Amino acid sequence: MQVSLSQSFPKENENILITVFLTKDNISEANEWLGTDFSGFSFQETHAENGTKTLIPAGAFLCLVLGMGDKVTTENIRKATHKSVSAANEYKYNRLYVVFPGKLDSANALAISESALLSNYQFLTYKSDKTANSLNEVCIWGSGTKIEKAIGKGVIIAQATLESRNLVNEPVITLTAEELANRASKLGNEYGFSVDIWNKTKIQSLKMGGLLAVNFGSKLPPTFSILEYKPENAVNTQPIILVGKGVVYDTGGLSLKPTPNSMDYMKCDMAGAAAVIGALCGVAKLKMNVHVIGLIPATDNRPGENAYVPGDVITMYDGSTVEVLNTDAEGRMILADALAYAKQYKPELVIDLATLTGASVVAIGGVGIAMMSTAEEPVKNQLKEAGEAVYERLVEFPLWDEYGEMLRSDIADMKNIGGASAGAITAGKFLQKFTDYPWVHLDIAGAAWNQSPDHYRGKNGTGIGVRLLLEFLAKREGN
Ligand code: BES
Ligand code: ZN
Ligand code: ZN
Repeated sequence: MQVSLSQSFPKENENILITVFLTKDNISEANEWLGTDFSGFSFQETHAENGTKTLIPAGAFLCLVLGMGDKVTTENIRKATHKSVSAANEYKYNRLYVVFPGKLDSANALAISESALLSNYQFLTYKSDKTANSLNEVCIWGSGTKIEKAIGKGVIIAQATLESRNLVNEPVITLTAEELANRASKLGNEYGFSVDIWNKTKIQSLKMGGLLAVNFGSKLPPTFSILEYKPENAVNTQPIILVGKGVVYDTGGLSLKPTPNSMDYMKCDMAGAAAVIGALCGVAKLKMNVHVIGLIPATDNRPGENAYVPGDVITMYDGSTVEVLNTDAEGRMILADALAYAKQYKPELVIDLATLTGASVVAIGGVGIAMMSTAEEPVKNQLKEAGEAVYERLVEFPLWDEYGEMLRSDIADMKNIGGASAGAITAGKFLQKFTDYPWVHLDIAGAAWNQSPDHYRGKNGTGIGVRLLLEFLAKREGN
């Protein structure tokens, strides 16, 4: 779909749906520009309603009027854009013309363009009928190079997010660990970053015991992928490393998943890896001046013949030992090796993203991301601010020592599970033991997958994390 800036109003004979975002301050401008009296319309939030949308005549056009509420935020602009895109598809329009009467600033223009693309997303790979949505062009009314740039940026950010969604929505029958690595490599060629893929032999020679243990039950080999984007004039001398959990399918292993139906969507257990790949796509396409490395340990987790078992003691990449008491706590086993591997880069910061615990879903549901961190306060605040800006919000959990004590093992250096409580944090504490640099852990288990549609975030894979990382890295870059 094309999203562009339009300085002129559509001609009378054009078959285009017009959508008007009304605020309490812009009704008179709307009247003037559309030659219609909008004073009878409420600027109260109408985009949040689920009812049928009514189109009203505005001169020669039909027009969808959406009230933006008392305060215009980028999030209600994204939601209103989503409603407009749905209406355009419902009424079979090819083109949509978005009018924000009054002053359209860069942040709002970006929000409209990214939401237009995110809202029009479809995953049609496995449908025999690949008829796409009717909508294929969105024009945003406005002018100026700043606005034009913001719209272009929104398009790239959305495309990067959709690459991530495509990966998450792909079932494990096609998206094996090897295929995940290959897809990262193809995207690297397309967007402009390098990808080095390690096979099982290489992983064995490096003694990545955590990754290999989780892979024991699988017929298919694990992979470890290193993604890198290194511009000449990077603002950082030490890289920022993004680590993504790449469990292409999580059955729980021999500790088979106990929660009914929870396996239905466990192809999403590589959403952290997908976020890292999507972020690299965006960073490269936006030609950001930041040196970024992505690390992706990948395997499926199955109860195969030689599967690792509760009671096993595994020697990890860093030489420490882990007593496995639940094979469903596999994400931390593979991430631990990647986090320990990251040490050699002397990174400025490492951010891991993982669909790590059901406990984080219980704590905060799907509306946010659970964060734990050893980074300095300003770094954490920048990340939280980025989360607010893109509405992928972070809530910080503590990494108090007491939670670490819950991981004590009788026979090894550590167990891979804690007790019945604080499951998201004990998982974070486990990972912390493999870090010696400023580190942020993002548990995206709730937000990675939507069982039912959620505005522009859609249904199924959400692509969570990509927009957050791109916003954070843009700030680091100075933009
Ligand atoms: N992949 C799951 C976590 C998950 C839950 C992701 C819901 C997406 C939605 C993870 O590997 C897992 O199974 N964690 C266990 C850990 C437990 C055994 C300590 C959990 O949270 O139940
Ligand atoms: Zn698991
Ligand atoms: Zn998992």
